[in-house]
Amino acid sequence: MPAAPSPVIDLNAVTQTFVSSDGSPVTALQDVDLRLRRHEFVSLIGPSGCGKSTILRLIAGLLRPTSGEVRIFDLPVTEPRDEIGMVFQKPTLLPWLSVLDNITFPMKHKYGRVDEKDLVRARELLAMIGLQDFGHKRPDELSGGMQQRVSIARSLLHDPEILLMDEPFSALDALTRDEMSFELLRIWNERPKTVVFVTHSIQEALLLSDRIVVMSARPGRVADIIDVPLARPRTLATLADPRFTQMANDIRVQVFSRKPE
Ligand SMILES: Nc1ncnc2c1ncn2[C@@H]1O[C@H](COP(=O)(O)OP(=O)(O)O)[C@@H](O)[C@H]1O
Ligand SMILES: [Mg+2]
Repeated sequence: MPAAPSPVIDLNAVTQTFVSSDGSPVTALQDVDLRLRRHEFVSLIGPSGCGKSTILRLIAGLLRPTSGEVRIFDLPVTEPRDEIGMVFQKPTLLPWLSVLDNITFPMKHKYGRVDEKDLVRARELLAMIGLQDFGHKRPDELSGGMQQRVSIARSLLHDPEILLMDEPFSALDALTRDEMSFELLRIWNERPKTVVFVTHSIQEALLLSDRIVVMSARPGRVADIIDVPLARPRTLATLADPRFTQMANDIRVQVFSRKPE
């Protein structure tokens, strides 16, 4: 039997300690083990402050673990890498640049110029997020939902192998959120990637994920990993599936019954 392929993202006994503003140590993560297979979609849920964003920053190479190891494609993470795209809770667009220039900004920043092929891809992404007529607008001429779509398009421009999303839809209204979830599923289906998605919404995690990692309150630990056996492609019908509602309820009970230590 061939050996199982090594994981794309591998957190091994990761502990992260910070020094808080009063000088006392804060253990944000303790002994976190987490492995993601290629093209897997995994959500992290858990109470505020349990270290979800810290996990993303470790994977992104923006932070080095206090102890333990983070590996990507079987190599230790030592610095931010090109194959990773990141989307934050807020759109983080540059207000003085047009929408199109915002999408191509990482290329401009890195190489000092934007290739024709990047421009073509940026226009394709704009069309994919339904904003083909907005390329020359400034961010503040767009709604919050539209701005977040632009941020997502920007993270996808170099077609990253890994996409890290930190509560990307949490500032959006419920309808836009569902729409964006389906859009993300479409993108992931069209150009598969390994995704780590942080959310507070159990429903969102269920709709999107192959697995859901439930984290416990500080110090953040992996409390449970739940497989989501719902068939793909997931659609509006998935939301109406009684198994979906049942699973959402089960996870809710599980998350709420977990008392902080
Ligand atoms: N740079 C930092 N300095 C000090 N404390 C930090 C720093 N970054 C995060 N923390 C603390 O670590 C804990 C986990 O933070 P975070 O990963 O942002 O949690 P979450 O995203 O789950 O809400 C929190 O208590 C937070 O205050
Ligand atoms: Mg966070």
